Amino acid sequence: MLQDFDLKKIVQPLLDWFGKNARILPWREDPAPYRVWVSEIMLQQTRVEAVKPYFERFTKELPDVKALAECEEEKLLKLWEGLGYYNRVRNMQIAAKTVMEEYGGVLPADYEELLKLKGIGSYTAGAIASIAYQIPVPAVDGNVLRVISRVTGDRSDIMKQSVRTEMERALKEIMPEKQAGAFNQALMELGATVCLPNGAPLCEKCPWQEFCEARLTDCWQEIPVKSKAKARRIEEKTVFIIRDGEKIVLHKRPTKGLLAGLYEFPNTSGHLTEEEALEWVKEQKLSPIRIQKLEPAKHIFSHVEWHMNGFMIRVDELAEDRSGMLFVDVKDSEENYPIPAAFGAYTKYMNIKLGNERFEEK
Ligand code: ADE
Ligand code: SF4
Repeated sequence: MLQDFDLKKIVQPLLDWFGKNARILPWREDPAPYRVWVSEIMLQQTRVEAVKPYFERFTKELPDVKALAECEEEKLLKLWEGLGYYNRVRNMQIAAKTVMEEYGGVLPADYEELLKLKGIGSYTAGAIASIAYQIPVPAVDGNVLRVISRVTGDRSDIMKQSVRTEMERALKEIMPEKQAGAFNQALMELGATVCLPNGAPLCEKCPWQEFCEARLTDCWQEIPVKSKAKARRIEEKTVFIIRDGEKIVLHKRPTKGLLAGLYEFPNTSGHLTEEEALEWVKEQKLSPIRIQKLEPAKHIFSHVEWHMNGFMIRVDELAEDRSGMLFVDVKDSEENYPIPAAFGAYTKYMNIKLGNERFEEK
C-alpha cells in the first residue's frame, strides 16, 4: 500500500520514459499559464484527442485572460459547445475577471492563490502551478489515482477525498524540484497511454514493471478500488424538431440549473406517442402537417440520464416568435445558438434540406 511503498523509485524511470514517449500536444509546445489552464479544464471533460480541435479554436478566438474576461457569454458558450459542463467555462470567465482585476491579467504563480479562483480546485491549481511555473506541487487526477494505487498495490477507495489528499501529500514529498511539470504530466500520460483505465494495462511498456505491486501480484483488475457512485436519476423526454422550410424552433433554457442559458429543441417529459406528440405541438399553437418518428437517444450527465424519443414535425407558418420559442434560420442556429451535446443525436436533422453529409450518411 501507499504508506509502506518507497515512492522515490518511481521518479527517474518515469521521467526517462516520458522523455521518450511524451505526446506532442498544442498546450505542451507553448505551456503559457493561460493555455495550461484552458487545456486542463477541457481535459476534465474528454480525451486528449477530442480536446485538440476545441483547444485550437478556443485559444485562437480568446488568446489570453483579457479576451476570455471580456468575451460575450453567447460566444463563450458557442466555443464550448459539445464539451459539456458549461458551468466550467462560465467559472473560467469569472476567474478570468478576477485575474484581470486582482492579478494584473496574469494567473498567479502560487498554488494557494490559484486555488482561490473560481472553478480551480487542487488538481487544476497543481497542474497550472507545476506545468506553467515549475512549482513542485502534485496534480492528482483520475489517471494519477489509478497508476499510484496500482504501482503501490493500494486498495483504498479512490472516491474518498481523504485518499486523494493522502496521495497528494505522498507525491509532494518526492516531486523532483526542477521537473515538476514533466513529472505530473508523465503520471497522467502513463495513465492515459499505458496503465489504461479500461481493459488490461500495457505492463510490458511500463517503466515501473519491475517493481509494480499490481503487476507482481497480478491484481490490476482489482485496483483501483472505486466505490459506486449513486445511481443516476432517469428522465424520459420527447424532443421535437419542428420545422417550416428552412426555419426551426429553438427554446432558450432557464438561466439557472442544468444547461443554463443554452438553446434546446422544444421537449417535454415522458415518451409521447405520435398522437400525443401532435397534441403537444398543437398546444404550442402550431399547426403540424407532417410527423416522422426519429431514433431514440440517450445522454448521460453526472447525476441524470436523459432517455429521449424524437419526432420531426413540419408545421405551417412559423411566423412570429411566441413565448420562449424562437424561430430561427437553420444556418443561423449552427452559428449563433449554442445547442448542448445532450441533443447531439438530433442536431443533424436541422440540416436536412441543406444536404448535410452527416444526415445523408444515416
Ligand atoms: N490529462 C489531463 N491533463 C493532461 C496533461 N497535461 N497531459 C496528459 N494528459 C492529461
Ligand atoms: Fe500499471 Fe502495469 Fe505499470 Fe503497474 S506495471 S503501473 S499495472 S502498467
